[in-house]
Amino acid sequence: MITTTGLTKVYQSRGREVTALDGVDLHVREGEVYGVIGQSGAGKSSLIRCVNLLERPTSGTVTVDGQDLTALAGRGPRAGKELRAARSRIGMVFQHFNLLASRTVQDNVELPLEILGVSGRERARKALELLDLVGLSDKAKAYPGQLSGGQKQRVGIARALAGDPKVLLSDEATSALDPETTRSVLQLLRDLNQQLGLTVLLITHEMDVVKTVCDSAALMRKGQVVESGTVRELLATPGSELAHELFPVGGAATGPDSTVVDVTFHGEATGRPVISQLSRTYNVDISILGAAMDTVGGNQIGRMRIELPGRFEENVVPIGFLREQGLQAEVVDPEAPGVPARIVPAPLAKPAPLAKEAVK
Ligand SMILES: Nc1ncnc2c1ncn2[C@@H]1O[C@H](COP(=O)(O)OP(=O)(O)OP(=O)(O)O)[C@@H](O)[C@H]1O
Ligand SMILES: [Mg+2]
Repeated sequence: MITTTGLTKVYQSRGREVTALDGVDLHVREGEVYGVIGQSGAGKSSLIRCVNLLERPTSGTVTVDGQDLTALAGRGPRAGKELRAARSRIGMVFQHFNLLASRTVQDNVELPLEILGVSGRERARKALELLDLVGLSDKAKAYPGQLSGGQKQRVGIARALAGDPKVLLSDEATSALDPETTRSVLQLLRDLNQQLGLTVLLITHEMDVVKTVCDSAALMRKGQVVESGTVRELLATPGSELAHELFPVGGAATGPDSTVVDVTFHGEATGRPVISQLSRTYNVDISILGAAMDTVGGNQIGRMRIELPGRFEENVVPIGFLREQGLQAEVVDPEAPGVPARIVPAPLAKPAPLAKEAVK
């Protein structure tokens, strides 16, 4: 639904060049909620502004719903007719709501429809329908100053939906809100995604947001996407920074002569007694250093950091057993037990040979 290829944005600022985007390839599928996360200055807002051509990329292409926006003429407020039409099918939600204080809630929602030249009656009908959708039917005649932050953001979302967009872009829509309100606004975005089949690209610096609503996520650093995929894929990728951030499990080794392993459980594996099987099968004592269980995108996922006695070489077989059970097992480097876990590749372990064969 949204594809960027080789997207680059270089700003000229007081004679200096700032590369905000450095070859970003992003692919957001139809109907998914896609989160982009990264530290301040990573280029997240530049990315979203390039996706709807509020900023013209320095190079690269942006395709939304099959249309190459970069091929359309104009930029910013001087966009050509075709670009304006394409943009009206992309809704945008802002961190600070950007509502007009002198207009009522209803008039704020009607604003984009006015610009599109929709008649007064039709505008009012549509605005009231959207306010109902975001749970604010009773606030139509109120002014933004009379609303709470969460209510203002609901108005912002209703306004973003006025042009019946297929795509909603959101830049830190919840970062000015308290945790409770954040949850309800995220739930609204999720409901809209499911009810209207809306594709949502959201920018955030909060991992909780990704955990709560995103199907897929990308991590940006210095203008580049350094990791991306569905949350499930990321959690199954050894050494994934995003996975580690989504599921931080702490705990350092109790001594030098032990092996620390991060184990990730998905789906039906969460219900199996794998750790006790491991302990019985190999007769090892296992210490649990840390653990976390959560639901991500409707799936149960667990992470556990365990400690096995003996060095890595002595634990190749038990680690192989965990992997054979369909679990992800990453050996944590004792030098760097923090974030992200450095991965020591383990050779694929064969099951212990049967006694009979060993005699032959
Ligand atoms: N209009 C501009 N002119 C010059 N430099 C800019 C402009 N907009 C952004 N930048 C620079 O581009 C880089 C990326 O900025 P961007 O706003 O995309 O980051 P961000 O990831 O959204 O950060 P934050 O989390 O703080 O919002 C930064 O170094 C920033 O200073
Ligand atoms: Mg930003």
